[in-house]
Amino acid sequence: MAIETGLKGKVVIVTGAAAGIGRATAACFAREGARVAAWDVADAQAAAVVEELKAAGGDAIFRAVNVTDAADVDRAVEEVAAAWGRVDVLVNNAGIMRDGLLVKWKESALAGRMGDDQFESVIDVNLKGPFLCARAVVPHMIKAGGGVILNASSVVGLYGNFGQTNYVASKAGIVGMTKVWARELARHHIRVNAVAPGFIATDMVRQMPEKVLDAMVSKTPLGRLGQPEEIGNVYLWLASDAAAYVTGAVISVDGGFVAGT
Ligand code: NAI
Repeated sequence: MAIETGLKGKVVIVTGAAAGIGRATAACFAREGARVAAWDVADAQAAAVVEELKAAGGDAIFRAVNVTDAADVDRAVEEVAAAWGRVDVLVNNAGIMRDGLLVKWKESALAGRMGDDQFESVIDVNLKGPFLCARAVVPHMIKAGGGVILNASSVVGLYGNFGQTNYVASKAGIVGMTKVWARELARHHIRVNAVAPGFIATDMVRQMPEKVLDAMVSKTPLGRLGQPEEIGNVYLWLASDAAAYVTGAVISVDGGFVAGT
């Protein structure tokens, strides 16, 4: 049976859409004929992203948006609503990583600590960003009679990871916010779900030491990194009518990593 996504003409905001999973996700929605607002703090890829999304079969606009800036996010949502009349789907994908140990101890002495800025910058983008974006789109979704919010968690948000106090806190926080919003917003016909990717071949993961990555792949039953489209396809399904009874869920898309640990 073919899956009817019902996404043709729907208005979808994807944050962090200039690269990696966000860019691939935006393309998945464009292929279904959606109207995609691609947001990213980095705008060097703006023209290329718009061209790619239009070629894939969708309509597209790109806007430089920093998801940590409440006023910028509010303005950007109003612009999408003014241009296309509604917001149906928000994919809270933008995220950063700034790894480090809580406390580094070397030769019986303190050799370093996770910095305040290192902690706060990751919480700001990965946790506060989704909060600001959801807060701005929800009134539009309520007025339109419903919508879908999708959040980027991570396998490490469920199981922890060495050297990632800040990142894991943000991704575990996403799981919590997803469950709260699923409860609060169901009465408005807004579904809210999170995806917990394993290790996906993007720039973010390529920053990791090769030794660490090899160890992760060896613990992944499917024996490879995931591809950005493999996350995009799950966002697409979660946003579609085929997932109409799914809310408050955290879907692992990790090649079996969780099962393998
Ligand atoms: P990436 O680093 O390839 O792309 C992230 C995009 O977000 C970049 O284009 C960047 O400019 C943008 N961005 C960063 N800060 C921003 C801000 N303040 N406002 C707007 N845009 C901003 O990352 P990747 O790998 O595609 O990750 C996407 C999401 O998936 C992130 O939330 C990440 O934590 C999550 N994730 C990724 C995994 C992976 O293995 N790649 C695994 C689990 C979760």
